[in-house]
Amino acid sequence: MGRVICLVMGYVFGLFQTGYLYGKMNHIDIRNYGSGNSGTTNALRVMGKKAGLIVFAGDFLKTVFACLAARIIFKGSPDTDLYVLYAGLGVVLGHNFPCYLNFKGGKGIASMAGILVSMDWRVTLVCASLFLGAVIITRYVSLGSILVVISFFIQILVYGAHGTFTVSADHLMEFYAVAFVLMAMAIWRHKTNIKRLLSGTENKLWGGKKN
Ligand code: G3P
Repeated sequence: MGRVICLVMGYVFGLFQTGYLYGKMNHIDIRNYGSGNSGTTNALRVMGKKAGLIVFAGDFLKTVFACLAARIIFKGSPDTDLYVLYAGLGVVLGHNFPCYLNFKGGKGIASMAGILVSMDWRVTLVCASLFLGAVIITRYVSLGSILVVISFFIQILVYGAHGTFTVSADHLMEFYAVAFVLMAMAIWRHKTNIKRLLSGTENKLWGGKKN
């Protein structure tokens, strides 16, 4: 039951589509512009730096709030971090598949950042360094995003095995499975980016064409 509560609560938080709402305030549906994504990168691409910052902050904070709520509700449980991860998964599902927008939302990377911060500072630090390094060197945000989710999953496995997280031994495999779903969903949401990366036509954050 706790898992369902976290998933549903997260999904409701995830419905707050900062990019879509900010676009509407500026009289556009951001999903009809740029890459068609409603997240930070496309907001930055289509509406500028201020929009990018606001969209990132909104999508990041909604995840932190949902994860924090799960942490408070399930404080003292032997599986607190499992519930936090379920809340994060719920947010990403709500963000990526918002029921009131024909299930057409974002790719969940700002939300992943919120999950990282809510889980562990070391995981956050490694993922943030990888992301910044990849984006600064290649100018491909999508590549940075994919590296983040892969590194997140690997670190969950490593730190999970070392008992860093509050997850009982009985539920450790489930914890890994939820982390795997988060990684797989993010990679799948980037499938068109991956095709463009492989063909050398991916959008660059600056100095490239905007499609
Ligand atoms: O966070 C999304 C980013 O990785 C890719 O965004 O708009 O270039 O598809 P976009």
